[in-house]
Amino acid sequence: MLEFWWRPLLFVLGLAFVSFLFYGDISGGRGWMLFSLGLFAYLIYQLRQLRKFSEWVSNPSRPPLQGDGVWGDALYGLEKLLRGRQGAQQKVAADLQQMLEATRNLPDGVVILDDDNRIVWLNLAAERLLGLSPNRDIGQFALYLLRNSRFAEWLNHDDYSVVLNLDSPASPETKLAMQLIPLPRLQKMLLARDITEIARVEAMRRDFVANVSHELRTPITVIVGFLEAFEDMPEPDPVQFRKHIPLMREQSDRIRRLVDDLLNLARLESEPDTKDETVDAVSLARRLAGEAETMSQGRHQIELRIDNQARLIGNGQELYSALANLVSNAVRYTPTGGHILIRWGVSELGEQTFSVKDSGEGIEARHIPRLTERFYRVDQGRSRSTGGTGLGLAIVKHVLQRHQARLRVVSIPGKGSTFSACFPVERVIPELAAAPRSAPAT
Ligand SMILES: Nc1ncnc2c1ncn2[C@@H]1O[C@H](COP(=O)(O)OP(=O)(O)OP(=O)(O)O)[C@@H](O)[C@H]1O
Ligand SMILES: [Mg+2]
Repeated sequence: MLEFWWRPLLFVLGLAFVSFLFYGDISGGRGWMLFSLGLFAYLIYQLRQLRKFSEWVSNPSRPPLQGDGVWGDALYGLEKLLRGRQGAQQKVAADLQQMLEATRNLPDGVVILDDDNRIVWLNLAAERLLGLSPNRDIGQFALYLLRNSRFAEWLNHDDYSVVLNLDSPASPETKLAMQLIPLPRLQKMLLARDITEIARVEAMRRDFVANVSHELRTPITVIVGFLEAFEDMPEPDPVQFRKHIPLMREQSDRIRRLVDDLLNLARLESEPDTKDETVDAVSLARRLAGEAETMSQGRHQIELRIDNQARLIGNGQELYSALANLVSNAVRYTPTGGHILIRWGVSELGEQTFSVKDSGEGIEARHIPRLTERFYRVDQGRSRSTGGTGLGLAIVKHVLQRHQARLRVVSIPGKGSTFSACFPVERVIPELAAAPRSAPAT
């Protein structure tokens, strides 16, 4: 500050001193004139600097001003201040740009609305989820674009705590959850989240609970019915009681099987990895063929074909339960006199495969993609009457998935079906020695 003042003062004093030196008396006419001229020149210089300064201030992007003395100090200080401000502004602009870019690419739809609910800005997900286009729709009323009475009521209500669930106007299969968030200057942000997957899982959960309850209700009703009848008898009749025991046992077994299957599925889902071991697939196929004979009790012709001695890397118990289901299905859904072929070998696609081919009733093509859904049966009555829970192929799918294998179903109604479990090469230990191409079922 001191520096700022002493230089002009020094200049005026210096001028007075020079006038005095020249003319001996500063108060005399010529001395005074020289002093005034000096001051006038100094004033002109300062005014020029001031004009340049004012021009520069109106456009500081021009090259900085040069100046000395008071102006030099002032300009240096001002320029430093401006540069600092510019740096801060650039940083704020860069941060803002980064935020905008991040919001633009958010997976949730974001639409900024003004106080009249006109669209001010929208991101890429909003284009996709709400079918909006920035070129066409910015400045338009959101209500005109998303014509829906529930949406209109919700938007006009301005209640920021209410979440609106709506089908996407762009594609009705997409389910959206919309929320409003207040912003400064009376603007608001409309957030649209894709909840299709959550809605699907929720619907599955509801169906699952309804199915389990339905499956349990029938056997429980039968058992409770008998128990109530016995309770109402004045004298318990042991003969009657004995007569109904087999049916009660059958229904209890049904409940037990259902619970076992459900627990099995829950375990498969909760444990992501299999406990791997080397599985002797040939022995497994032989064992399953034997069980098929037992189940069939001579009603079917059962053939076992072992094409190679390859073994598997996997969980023997899980693989057994999955493949046993394919075998038991073949026996249950093939009428008496039918033929069942159990085969361990390489498929026409070159994959090591366990397959069960039957000459049974077959399955219409429309049912095939749904067979592995829990409780899905082609013929409800038929499956129940043969003791099926409808969970078998769901378990098969999970077990095979855990072994990176896939289930292939080929079926012709009236002719029969082939269910194949196809294993990836990483899970197969190739045969060590050649094996006979065909072996009788034992
Ligand atoms: N080999 C087959 N031939 C004809 N239909 C079949 C065959 N295998 C399965 N299905 C059909 O697929 C449905 C689902 O089979 P899944 O094994 O999942 O259940 P389930 O056999 O009814 O009962 P569970 O296996 O739980 O005892 C069956 O109800 C049946 O309609
Ligand atoms: Mg089954």
